[in-house]
Amino acid sequence: MSREISSNLIEQAVAAAIAVRDRAYAPYSQFHVGAAIIDADGGIHVGCNVENASYGLTNCAERAAVAAATSAGRRDIHVCVVVTQTSPPAAPCGACRQVLSECNPDMRILTTNPQREDTWYSLSDLLPNAFGPASF
Ligand code: THU
Repeated sequence: MSREISSNLIEQAVAAAIAVRDRAYAPYSQFHVGAAIIDADGGIHVGCNVENASYGLTNCAERAAVAAATSAGRRDIHVCVVVTQTSPPAAPCGACRQVLSECNPDMRILTTNPQREDTWYSLSDLLPNAFGPASF
């Protein structure tokens, strides 16, 4: 697909992230997060946060989406949509920024909420001077 990602595809990814957010397992924080990744062919891969009674084992939605994309054979991520319930919407945590960066340090991130308070970021702005596979 072209470098320009269609607004229709973005809307599909937002809808997918909103839908998967309903599946979040977050009984401890009550903070439900949905993520949807768009690959270079326009495929959409989703993930939600999964908490654990041993809190440190919690997995974030963005990293679940990276795992889904990787499991589908796709590491060529162009966009990651993150849906939270807050206003303004939350941006990815540091661990997720690092994991997303391994796929594509130049990807675009769209944070939003069900009220569609959209903010676009470049991952390189959220994680400048990233450590990555070329760093060693
Ligand atoms: N969480 C995410 O899913 N993504 C982030 O980028 C930040 C935090 C989840 C983890 C935990 O289940 C809840 O939000 C509260 O931290």
